[in-house]
Amino acid sequence: MKLNTWFVEKLGERKEKNLFRELKPETDLVDFCSNDYLGLARSEELFDLINKRTKALPFRRNGSTGSRLISGNSAYTQDVEDILASIFKSEAALILNSGYTANLAVFSSIPQRNDTIILDELAHASIKDGARLSLAKRFTFNHNDLNDLESKLKKASGKIFIAVESIYSMDGDACPLPELTILAKKYGAFIILDEAHSTGVMGAKGSGLATTFRIENEIDIRIYTFGKAMGIHGACIAGSKNLIQYIINFSRPFIYTTALSPHSIASIACAFAYLDKHTHLQTDLTKLINAYLDGLKSLTNRTPSNSAIQTVIFPGNENVKSAANILQQSGFDVRPILSPTIPAGSERLRICLHTYNTLKEITKLTAALKKL
Ligand SMILES: Cc1ncc(COP(=O)(O)O)c(C=O)c1O
Repeated sequence: MKLNTWFVEKLGERKEKNLFRELKPETDLVDFCSNDYLGLARSEELFDLINKRTKALPFRRNGSTGSRLISGNSAYTQDVEDILASIFKSEAALILNSGYTANLAVFSSIPQRNDTIILDELAHASIKDGARLSLAKRFTFNHNDLNDLESKLKKASGKIFIAVESIYSMDGDACPLPELTILAKKYGAFIILDEAHSTGVMGAKGSGLATTFRIENEIDIRIYTFGKAMGIHGACIAGSKNLIQYIINFSRPFIYTTALSPHSIASIACAFAYLDKHTHLQTDLTKLINAYLDGLKSLTNRTPSNSAIQTVIFPGNENVKSAANILQQSGFDVRPILSPTIPAGSERLRICLHTYNTLKEITKLTAALKKL
């Protein structure tokens, strides 16, 4: 069989199941789907700040020119990592090219053959893929269910790693972090916390959920991403100095890739500096989330969430696609999340709220959702 024939066959199967994915150009619909929760990606002021900072760098280079261990490192990158460590209240921080890479870096290199990784069933694909690259045993526990987690902890052996997210990317609900740390301690387990959807939107200086509860020292490994509320690109791992040195020495997704460009590194520093000067953004977002929740009080087909990520469940891929279509025709950019990305029966509209959504747009959206 020719490779092309096989591609056509596989794509045909997707089309038959109505699961064909296509890249679409940007639209002028009202944004209810991007991760730009605080509007930093579209901030002109931040754009100018990044350009100014990049121009002021002591070296003029378009790319980093190599991996961090060869030619891609700079004193500036390490200064920015020190800033990140102080924001996230960790001993050290290490920048990685994306959140996907950061999760791969942690999970593929730290848990060893006789260890156990226990993942929340709704953990992001990058956590699952990272865990797959490890030789450790893997179990999942029911989403946010600490009783189920405890039953899995009882079966675990070796070093035990619990993988959770601060705010779950598909449901928008939070992890019961303080209770989780108590349970982890009881079994001597280590927590790996992905703060992708809490970075920027929660905590002082955008430092996320663990620092909000002041329990950052109870979490062994934290991952923060900058492509969501921070409006730019990249990620970091935060934790002890030894953790960071371990990643630098043993983690292939860190070692064998070209480092981020100087422009990207400057963007990270500028985005956090910008947020520090615009602390109202977090409260602005909370007000809009509350307005959205008020508008939808009567709607029960939702997963409980107080975050910028909201859902409305329409079981069945066809159903949820047609609901999204109706909303798009009314001017709202709302996207359907289909199975198998999420379990069949839980197909949903995933609605992301942003500081730049107006109250009027939110009222119109909630009215349209109630009519579906
Ligand atoms: C929970 C979670 N972790 C990690 C990632 C990956 O981050 P990045 O987009 O920076 O690769 C995402 C992105 O969708 C995410 O939702």
